[in-house]
Amino acid sequence: MVALTWSENKLNMDDAVRTENIKNLANQAKRLEHIEPFHVMRIITRAMEIQASGVDVVNLAVGEPDFPTPSLIVDAAVNALKADSMRYLPALGRDELREAISQWYQQKYAIHVPKERIAVTTGSSGALLLTMGVLVSPGDEILMSDPSYPCNRNFVSTMEGASTLIPVGPETSYQLTAELVEKNWTDRTVGVMVASPSNPTGTMIEHDVLRDIHRVVQANAGTLIVDEIYHGITYGQDAASALDFADDVFVINSFSKFFSMTGWRLGWAVVPDRFINSFETLAQNLYISSPDVAQKAAVAAFHPDSIKECNLYRSRYQEQRDYLVTELKNIGFRIPVEPTGAIYIYADCSEFSNDSFQFCQDLLEKAGVAIAPGLDFGFNQANQHVRFSFPKPVSILTEGVRRIRAHLYQ
Ligand SMILES: Cc1ncc(COP(=O)(O)O)c(C=O)c1O
Repeated sequence: MVALTWSENKLNMDDAVRTENIKNLANQAKRLEHIEPFHVMRIITRAMEIQASGVDVVNLAVGEPDFPTPSLIVDAAVNALKADSMRYLPALGRDELREAISQWYQQKYAIHVPKERIAVTTGSSGALLLTMGVLVSPGDEILMSDPSYPCNRNFVSTMEGASTLIPVGPETSYQLTAELVEKNWTDRTVGVMVASPSNPTGTMIEHDVLRDIHRVVQANAGTLIVDEIYHGITYGQDAASALDFADDVFVINSFSKFFSMTGWRLGWAVVPDRFINSFETLAQNLYISSPDVAQKAAVAAFHPDSIKECNLYRSRYQEQRDYLVTELKNIGFRIPVEPTGAIYIYADCSEFSNDSFQFCQDLLEKAGVAIAPGLDFGFNQANQHVRFSFPKPVSILTEGVRRIRAHLYQ
């Protein structure tokens, strides 16, 4: 399968989805034509309706931890709210938090990252949006894998750039390689985006492969963006950071996943020196600063007791992953590459259906289990794939498995 830009791919989409995208076009900016809805949201909304009607749903569609935010972080927030007024902050974040993140790189990865290059953002989503805002001019292309996290291509579209989605499969653990980057680079390409561990596949990019990709990007005078937001949630091996070998890359991270803080909306970017002022200017203008209370609390995320709690969460995720991978394979899903990180299983459902959206709808309506359709993550065999998000107690996963089996083999 050849790589296509997002707009070329859109022509291949089914009519119903396309119609939904372009409705109300007369009243909205043209860039919205290139921005896809999150299909899983339809599943999640419907799951909530079903639940509200009194029928229980096993929800494996939402990509977030099921554990509470570590107590020290919560206490720090409560204390801060009692002691201080919450105010606007410098756009790049509180000094104390930037320093704590810098020390985290030293402690965890033995890498020196000066705090001046660290920008605290509203989730890693804020970091990704600003990064694309800094790098992408209208018509520029960013290369990324297909499947990959859907918002990435929409951040590029928001800047009126184009994402080139490069089909990847089990043979490269669903990750890009230097050869793929080289082959798909054009005069319009300005950068490459990778995520390791990845959403939806939970696979990691080998450090040497990442280094090779970086070389190709450098040779073409582009910029590499590495999403490291699932660092800390890995199984059997730690993930190395791209900052290990490069200081001209954008590295994106978040408090959302490892620290179980999705709703606090806090993340960060490590920005190459030469871009930090533009990054700051954009942040100032787009949202002034990220939340004061979340920043005050997040310093406590790096306390050894919080890290201990999060590592405990990680071992629970591992048990949940092990359970669900085994059971899904027993049911008949194919999982050619098992996740070594993140909180997802990307499974081939072609044994049961060649329309993954319909498959997800049926599973929800008839069996009360919500999962995400492949269509959300790109076009490459999207109809044969679904994503299971597994951070749930094994007892709930067991009920989910029972329902799926009963539905498929009734
Ligand atoms: C790969 C990836 N990057 C970025 C994000 C955005 O997360 P947040 O804005 O909560 O940091 C997500 C969320 O699921 C994700 O899966």
